Amino acid sequence: METVVSGIRSTGNLHLGNYFGAIRNFIKMQHEHRCFFFIADLHALTTHPKADQFRQSVRNVLVEYLAAGLDPEVSTLYIQSDVPEISELYLLMNMVAYVGELERCTSFKEKIRKHPDNINAGLLTYPVLMAADIIIHKATKVPVGKDQEQHLEMARNFANRFNHLYEKDVFPEPYAYNFGNQLVKVPGLDGSGKMGKSEGEGNAIFLADSPEVIRKKVMRAVTDSGPTEPGQTKPESISNLFQLMNLVSSADTIAFFEERWNACDIRYGDMKKQLAEDMILFTHPLRERIADIQKDDDLLNRVIRQGAEKARESASKTLHEVRTVIGLNR
Ligand code: TYM
Repeated sequence: METVVSGIRSTGNLHLGNYFGAIRNFIKMQHEHRCFFFIADLHALTTHPKADQFRQSVRNVLVEYLAAGLDPEVSTLYIQSDVPEISELYLLMNMVAYVGELERCTSFKEKIRKHPDNINAGLLTYPVLMAADIIIHKATKVPVGKDQEQHLEMARNFANRFNHLYEKDVFPEPYAYNFGNQLVKVPGLDGSGKMGKSEGEGNAIFLADSPEVIRKKVMRAVTDSGPTEPGQTKPESISNLFQLMNLVSSADTIAFFEERWNACDIRYGDMKKQLAEDMILFTHPLRERIADIQKDDDLLNRVIRQGAEKARESASKTLHEVRTVIGLNR
């Protein structure tokens, strides 16, 4: 049995990228391993959300986790800020993280480019907090999408450096994990890049989107004027549509449109209609469960309370060990 940790920032609703990149893998693991899944609310503070909206986002993500099939009786499901041990470990790990390596981190450089007016220290040390999230439970497997690979490499570096500095094997090495071995990058609908909540409007399909919204978003997806030679390589926008189809459509449907592409008589309108219907079918049970769970305050409060208790039990053990190794326990 291994220890598994994964999390999602509470910056908005969950989309298909989150589902296929992280949640689906986690759900498959929860019955075989010691699993922790949390809502990274502290990480979401880098963008300075208003308190009411912030509280609501945390709740939404919790509802959607549960709707997606995370079982709080089997896994430990908690909110990051309910476990103060993580914040203390983050402070301690900041002592072994070098500013140079944090500045070189791709996600930090991207944030500087996108939000030059808000380059706060929380953004710079984001990977340290993420490492603390993982190593606080001594996790070895971390189900995440491809975009988190570098953060995992940094977490390994910090963990190893700590062990080396104090000459004790406190932390095992955590690795990004996917069931199919390859980490996943779910594309967005705007023709380039990944599906993400901070990308443009209409780029992401959210688990809670209504059928009408899904149809509208998919029909607006970027395409081109079509192939001109049989078997030609697909441009990114078209290959993205096929990748999305691979996630939600049947093998027959995919084969049909692949054939049409190869024969140069593909009708993108038909393909998008089919993709939208398959996405609607796929998200339908999730949408129904979201609506049910949303109303169940007792359940949500119980999950939050129990999750915090279980997570703190595990976290405090590690933190005690860390404090002893450092010489903080008198
Ligand atoms: P976040 O909130 O951006 O995304 C949550 C998870 O969803 C995955 N993901 C994707 N996977 C494939 N294709 C996509 N288009 C796509 N978009 C998002 C992400 O890879 C991630 O697994 N830093 C993390 C949150 C975090 C965390 C952690 C994760 C904080 N501490 C500890 C694991 C362990 C983040 O911002 O993910």
